[in-house]
Amino acid sequence: MSAVQEAFGYGEQEWRPQEGLYLGGCSAWELADQFGTPLLVLAESEIRSRCRRYRRAMESYAPGGRVIYAGKAFLNTAMALLIAQEGLCLDVVSGGELYIALNAGFPPERVVMHGNNKTPEELSDALEHGVGTLVVDNFPELLLLEDLARSKGKRPAILLRLIPGVEAHTHEYIRTGQADSKFGISLEQGQAMAATRHALASLHVQLLGFHCHIGSQILALDAYLMAVEAMMDFIGQVARATGWTASVLDMGGGLGIRYLPEDTPPSIETYLQTLAEAVRAQARRQGVPVPRLWVEPGRSIVGEAGTALYRVGSVKEAGRRRLYAAVDGGMTDNPRVALYQARYQAWLLKAPGRRPGAVRDVTVAGHCCESGDILVPHVRMSEPERGDLVAIPASGAYQYAMSSNYNGYPRPAVVLVRDGRAMLIARREAYPDLVRLDLVPPDLRQRASEPADQTGSAAVASLDGTKGEA
Ligand SMILES: Cc1ncc(COP(=O)(O)O)c(C=O)c1O
Repeated sequence: MSAVQEAFGYGEQEWRPQEGLYLGGCSAWELADQFGTPLLVLAESEIRSRCRRYRRAMESYAPGGRVIYAGKAFLNTAMALLIAQEGLCLDVVSGGELYIALNAGFPPERVVMHGNNKTPEELSDALEHGVGTLVVDNFPELLLLEDLARSKGKRPAILLRLIPGVEAHTHEYIRTGQADSKFGISLEQGQAMAATRHALASLHVQLLGFHCHIGSQILALDAYLMAVEAMMDFIGQVARATGWTASVLDMGGGLGIRYLPEDTPPSIETYLQTLAEAVRAQARRQGVPVPRLWVEPGRSIVGEAGTALYRVGSVKEAGRRRLYAAVDGGMTDNPRVALYQARYQAWLLKAPGRRPGAVRDVTVAGHCCESGDILVPHVRMSEPERGDLVAIPASGAYQYAMSSNYNGYPRPAVVLVRDGRAMLIARREAYPDLVRLDLVPPDLRQRASEPADQTGSAAVASLDGTKGEA
């Protein structure tokens, strides 16, 4: 496959035969030179166009529904502002994500708060700041929220998160709708009905409806159809048992994206149309009014808008046929491969003036002291050399958001590109950032200047306050 064919179809990428890869109208090489590597490049128009497609499709197929961006995929101040401008709501899962959103000026009434173990402090913050909807994960949390709401004189709008008992065809670590999931209230053994009755009787919460999320990177819609059926069955049961009907059904996120050329996720429009029609059909079957449909896409908004750029360092042959190209990033800026065997495409961008070499089967290795730190186990590319760039498309979601300082590597910079302009939205961490939280007890600083021999005997002696051999 030629580079042009490989580049085609991933977000805002464009391949110019003489010049190489362009992202949002900016040359990948110029971005790497200006901002350094590893670098996450986000194409602004790609993010905006996906937000708009979601909103338009929601208006066409389920008017009155809500599109709620799942901030866990990627959230910082600029992203919160972009999502606010596009008129989406925002799903946060912690006090920290709530802080990022509110600090950016995101309207609290458009925030939906998740989390399977929200602390009293997080729930109090949500109540104080007027968060629009809280998704209650479990019965103890419902009791805690009621207590806090009572003491503050509030009555928050809530959804109950339920487990629909559906197994999505995706990796087990990103599958959440199966009966023994750690998230949500089981539909089995009457638990969901008991929680619903309790919430309906409460003076301190206002139950709007129900939520489920069956998993992430879902490429076939059949699991959603089963989940809609299970959720609408329950809504029907509740209506018959209590006379109350849910006004909201939040089906969570999960729509998959194209990581590899052969991945063929349903379009945003097909996904929403399928969900909306299923909800209508099931509401008819249950004889209940059609609830408003809410969805919480993360990956399918920001994933394909992102491209990660790395610089090639050591290139070595190992064993008889393996060619490693080690790059200056890895599981520290993209833990998805080590965490759940995620698969990626990778393109080699030859340094200017270099001619492509023979095409080889290459393993793109990360820089961490872990054998599992491999970014792409096998990819066909022109033989890499030190100083070339490797571009990994579809890198916008769950990479920077899950990045770490493991091995003392600073986090990469993030740059937003649009119409040939590049704007930094997260600066690259520097070495001083690695010690900014460190504190040193005064006597440790003083004793650090006392020499220890190779066995550390002076240090041991000084710790217990005695002199001499330990
Ligand atoms: C409750 C909930 N909603 C939405 C999402 C977003 O999923 P995705 O990024 O796959 O669309 C997740 C992701 O795990 C989630 O747990």
